[in-house]
Amino acid sequence: MKMINTNLSPVDPNAVSQIKLVDGSLMPQAAMGTFHSDNPDLMKGMEDIVIEAIRLGYRHIDCATAYQNEEIVGQAIEKSIKSGLVKREDLFILSKLWNKNMKPDEVIPALKKTLIDLKVDYLDMYVVHWPWSNFHEPGSSGDALNDHAVPYIHEDFMEVWDKMTELKRLGLVKNIGTSNQTRKTIDLLLRDTDDFNRPTYNQMELHPLFQQKEFVQFLIENKIAPSGYMSLGSPRRPGRDRFPEHQSDMQHHIIQSISAQTGLTPPQVCLAWAHQRENNQVGYVSMAERSDWIKSNLLGATQNVLSNEQFQLIDGNNTEENPGINTNNRLIWGQVFLWPEAKYLGHPRYVLWDDHQIFETKSDYDEFRKAFKDFYKVWKSTVYNLDFTS
Ligand SMILES: NC(=O)c1ccc[n+]([C@@H]2O[C@H](COP(=O)([O-])OP(=O)(O)OC[C@H]3O[C@@H](n4cnc5c(N)ncnc54)[C@H](OP(=O)(O)O)[C@@H]3O)[C@@H](O)[C@H]2O)c1
Repeated sequence: MKMINTNLSPVDPNAVSQIKLVDGSLMPQAAMGTFHSDNPDLMKGMEDIVIEAIRLGYRHIDCATAYQNEEIVGQAIEKSIKSGLVKREDLFILSKLWNKNMKPDEVIPALKKTLIDLKVDYLDMYVVHWPWSNFHEPGSSGDALNDHAVPYIHEDFMEVWDKMTELKRLGLVKNIGTSNQTRKTIDLLLRDTDDFNRPTYNQMELHPLFQQKEFVQFLIENKIAPSGYMSLGSPRRPGRDRFPEHQSDMQHHIIQSISAQTGLTPPQVCLAWAHQRENNQVGYVSMAERSDWIKSNLLGATQNVLSNEQFQLIDGNNTEENPGINTNNRLIWGQVFLWPEAKYLGHPRYVLWDDHQIFETKSDYDEFRKAFKDFYKVWKSTVYNLDFTS
């Protein structure tokens, strides 16, 4: 099957809904994702895919150092600009600081490397990909743990954030934001920042079966633009992010019945909800490699196609009769980022998102770790038949 079909007419970028950031700049609501789902074939094709997305009208490109393809995406951006397809100032280019570089003296060099790879001299948005420095080597198995992983330590995060604000002062990035934060970590960040330094954007997992409604509303109230990734439920996500309890958004019976009623495909229904929620004030990132899907995903941000009733079937209307279809079906658990103590406390996957372990300072965490070691020694020597392997 031909993936790229340059005969397909483009979407008018001016018809795409825009979100106004707190500094007044506009961010196209729909972003083209560039994560290759660890798929080497997709990695090779990414240059053509990004050029095609730009040709079809995408102006917001979602990149990250962690996707290991910024040079390829950069070639696409450079070619699109050189060929006159788009001007740099018409693009909204976002990238993410990878966990491995979450050390104060590595933030500026990491951004400069991203600028070189993407072949641009500034970013529209630079976000901290995860709230801590924990990382796993590319290709690690789904249960690999890094012994040096740590929980959220606010003091560490703020040292990195100070450098993010320096990038903004230097004019290398127009706006700074976060990703994969929780309500509590955003509370701490807002507590310790002012108007210039505050985050203006947070990227998080959002799709019809995982709506995070209260957190999204909190972000909007605090002038942080929320944007959702895995907007279609990421059917081709890597094996490490698949769990037996997962449900498929596109196959949900309400999504299917709205699809049958409207003639929209199930992915179009998911994106129509993403576009309409909170009065079009939530961004969405989706990824596709076929021209027709790239185009239809962008079209999702051009008009409200669901009736109020259809929208509310997905979103709910605050009544017991219609709670909506959110099932808290989180796809990204980030279990590879867990730190040693978390392994022994509760269900490891939940510890990460439930804010069980958040520390203000490094010395708070040192104290906790010492107490935990002492406790663990006593635990191991006194509890009968203790089995840590399960
Ligand atoms: N901040 C973070 O931590 C984070 C985490 C995950 C993702 N992201 C970003 O979010 C982006 C999107 O996430 P994702 O790619 O995992 O999930 P997604 O957009 O929900 O799903 C993409 C998949 O859906 C299929 N698809 C796309 N459009 C379709 C359509 N119209 N009809 C039928 N199937 C369609 C694609 O298939 P084909 O591949 O066959 O075209 C692709 O495999 C990533 O690329 C990345 O930029 C960020």
